[in-house]
Amino acid sequence: MDSKVVSKGLAPVITIDGPTASGKGTVALGVASALGWHVLDSGALYRLTAFAAYKAGVNIEHVAEVTNIAASLDIMFTSEGAVLHGSNVEHEIRQEHIGKLASVVAAYSSVRKTLLDRQRAFRVSPGLVADGRDMGTVIFPDAPLKIFLIASVQARAERRYKQLISKGISAKLSDLTQDLQERDERDKSRLNAPLVAATDAHTIDSSSLSVNETIEQVLNLWRNVKGLGS
Ligand code: CDP
Repeated sequence: MDSKVVSKGLAPVITIDGPTASGKGTVALGVASALGWHVLDSGALYRLTAFAAYKAGVNIEHVAEVTNIAASLDIMFTSEGAVLHGSNVEHEIRQEHIGKLASVVAAYSSVRKTLLDRQRAFRVSPGLVADGRDMGTVIFPDAPLKIFLIASVQARAERRYKQLISKGISAKLSDLTQDLQERDERDKSRLNAPLVAATDAHTIDSSSLSVNETIEQVLNLWRNVKGLGS
């Protein structure tokens, strides 16, 4: 195995960053399942923070209160989805309005700082596939393989539409297109951990790739990192 992979005695990490609805979550799950590794859906932590603040009636502009909420989250990730303070909230946190609030609270540096250690704690043997916006740039800068997954706005809006409908959440394609452009803008322009490819990331455009083809590309890159070729 490459010396970078085992250099610090830490479990290896593959980071998958990219804009909203680029397929990061699905690809991360597929890669993790092929390798038998753990998964970190870091966006879920921001969604859970936004949802908990919303439920508590906290004004989302109130940075200190939102940060307290982030610090006191009691979270578990199960095969049935995210559990917050003992209740399964998977369906609630996937709603688009929570996604929008998530991108607001994600711009607060105090919230990001509060969630940092929780994210790093996911790095356990035999390995981790971490998906988000800053996995390769901030959370796991030493990851031996970094992917920046992109897709056209149209492909992403269509995917998000199908995903929401399949979960029984109503959606309108035109609203989704506008929302995801606004979210991209907020994620890219924020001062803290903006959405940007790490300098050593491999960019994959999945606009015309199937999920399996995208997973295969990531696995091939991983074989190369390990020196096994593809
Ligand atoms: O599903 P989608 O890609 O739209 O979003 P997500 O991955 O569930 O993340 C929700 C929001 O959290 C994003 O719009 C980002 O603003 C924020 N986020 C972040 O700032 N950093 C991360 N590592 C992951 C998500």
